[in-house]
Amino acid sequence: MLILGIETSCDETAAAIVSGDKYSKKIKLISNIVASSLPLHSKSGGIVPENAAREQVKYIIPVISGALSKANLKPKDIDIIAITYGPGLIGSLLIGVETAKTLSYIWNKPLIPVNHLLGHIYANFVSEISNFKFQISNSAVPEFPAIGLIVSGGHTDLILLNKHGNLKWLGGTRDDAAGEALDKIGRLLKLPYPGGPYIEQHAKKGDANKYQFPRPMIGSKDFDFSFSGLKAAVSREVEKTKLNEETVNDICLAAQKAIVNVIVRKTLKAAKKYNAKSILLGGGVAANQTLRNELELEVRSQKLKAKIFAPSKKLCTDNAAMIAAAAFFNNKVVTWQKIDADPNLYFDLS
Ligand code: KG4
Ligand code: ZN
Repeated sequence: MLILGIETSCDETAAAIVSGDKYSKKIKLISNIVASSLPLHSKSGGIVPENAAREQVKYIIPVISGALSKANLKPKDIDIIAITYGPGLIGSLLIGVETAKTLSYIWNKPLIPVNHLLGHIYANFVSEISNFKFQISNSAVPEFPAIGLIVSGGHTDLILLNKHGNLKWLGGTRDDAAGEALDKIGRLLKLPYPGGPYIEQHAKKGDANKYQFPRPMIGSKDFDFSFSGLKAAVSREVEKTKLNEETVNDICLAAQKAIVNVIVRKTLKAAKKYNAKSILLGGGVAANQTLRNELELEVRSQKLKAKIFAPSKKLCTDNAAMIAAAAFFNNKVVTWQKIDADPNLYFDLS
């Protein structure tokens, strides 16, 4: 089965082709094209929704035809179209959803609508084949029950996956998402947008003894998060600090540490409570190496049996391979008349 995935929920326009059969425990990535309008948003210091939507219009057809030609396939070879229908920016979502509906109609292909957040978790079910050796580089398969941790610019969520199609939302952020907090802290420190990757780089040169920031809700009984207080604490510190290379490095290290600490603590608590065999990371912040290392370290030191999965860095950020993978394992085919973009979509846990 060949699936064409399409993703346009925010500032990336992406199309990918994946293949799988009824025996597949992971799907194979055949082509993966991502056009990002990030450079444009870097100039404005954040995403302007209308600009993002206009860029989606520019890229959507070239990206889809690029994914097909890179895979050496024609539209008739595709079996199913998978499309992100939410959550996200309405203008951006509409470009992908309406394109997918049109293609479904004219090519006569079934459609599978996919929740973007679930897509991030399913990036862990994509096998990337190394171009050079033609070997599957990440062949390990996540086992259930699994804890999914979605940490992106718009979301911070913990979910329990009992099996494909059987999910329970455990908790999420009550205010800023982890990536959003990093981006806002980046702005306070006058770093380029988005701040997350820059904070990671500066933190490597920081001194851990210089600043200490709060770890909001770290001990709370639930699986919720809150990061806006941390951002406010960093803001207060920045007001009384002369920003230079050294102080920026030190603040980056302390802020990253606070965020990573909270995420690791809550994820491990969920893994323990539900006896998880796997912890599946997803979303842009999952590209953060400190987060990956700290999770690994804590899982080992607490002697948990959970195995940690994190997608390659290019599959952590928005892409369409993850959307096609989520569609493959949660096969809910609909007709094109039945799909509407839903910017506020949350977890459909049925
Ligand atoms: O998943 P994503 O590409 O888009 C959303 O769906 O939001 O995530 C983008 C977020 C941004 O907040 C960015 O700062 C963060 O991911 N990010 C990182 C790193 N790379 C991207 N945060 C920390 N460390 C990184 N290496
Ligand atoms: Zn995303």
